[in-house]
Amino acid sequence: MGALQGRVALVTGSSRGIGAAIATAFANEGAAVAVHGRDVEAINHIVASIRWEGGRVIPVTGDINRWADIESMRCRIERELGPVDLLVANAGGSPTPPCLLEDITEVGWRAAIDTNLTGTFLTLKSFLPRMKELQRGTIITISSAAARRPHAKSPIAYSAAKSGIQMLTQHLAAQAGPFGIRVNGIAPETILTERNAERIPDAVQTMLIGEHPVRRLGTPEDVANAALFLASEASGWMSGVILDVAGGAVMT
Ligand SMILES: NC(=O)c1ccc[n+]([C@@H]2O[C@H](COP(=O)([O-])OP(=O)(O)OC[C@H]3O[C@@H](n4cnc5c(N)ncnc54)[C@H](OP(=O)(O)O)[C@@H]3O)[C@@H](O)[C@H]2O)c1
Repeated sequence: MGALQGRVALVTGSSRGIGAAIATAFANEGAAVAVHGRDVEAINHIVASIRWEGGRVIPVTGDINRWADIESMRCRIERELGPVDLLVANAGGSPTPPCLLEDITEVGWRAAIDTNLTGTFLTLKSFLPRMKELQRGTIITISSAAARRPHAKSPIAYSAAKSGIQMLTQHLAAQAGPFGIRVNGIAPETILTERNAERIPDAVQTMLIGEHPVRRLGTPEDVANAALFLASEASGWMSGVILDVAGGAVMT
């Protein structure tokens, strides 16, 4: 029997990249999984691949910055799979490249905060009450190595948003623990997703590898393995932890 048999999981932003690897790993361990994003074709691709492997999965769409979208996707998951007791608030990313603080536009700043911090907050706010009713649940948020220390290659607004996610995670861990809910975060360093593999030139990848004591960049599966650990009872006495999945590049 899989480690997540009987669980109902939502992984936001699982139409590709890290989220897709987490959704796939959870389904392989027996969880019923909702695959989420905005790109219907990409979502359907991941759903088909999980179904092909025998997993129980449904597609859901919505913008994590829109409360109504999140609520309607929660209702659909509850109707089709049951109440979510395993939530990974993974959707996010940096909408702007790194630059000097004085060159950050107000629009760019707000976009980074909305996409990461506000989107994570709205997601947690929607799914938490049902977990409290059930008196059980596991929540995983996704921060970034960019929030673990200042680095010239990290966009400042994105780093600040991801730092906010860490404090949000720890506050919620303290509030929700007595309801049988564990809340932890993962802070990945550079992960070679499809998008990063296309976007980061080979020479920069080589330079980045040199910054990691474990001499390679991360894979989506590296993060999925950490999520699997935090989702399962193997981490049953861990809450409020931010786990660095960083090839040794971040040591806190
Ligand atoms: N890759 C890295 O090196 C790295 C390192 C540290 C932290 N992270 C964090 O890990 C998470 C996943 O990153 P990734 O690299 O796998 O990203 P990705 O490949 O760009 O995928 C991002 C996912 O988030 C979804 N998403 C983004 N904004 C959304 C919104 N407003 N509403 C709904 N869905 C939204 C996307 O959906 P659609 O594409 O379907 O619209 C997609 O499924 C992010 O939070 C990111 O900040 C990544």
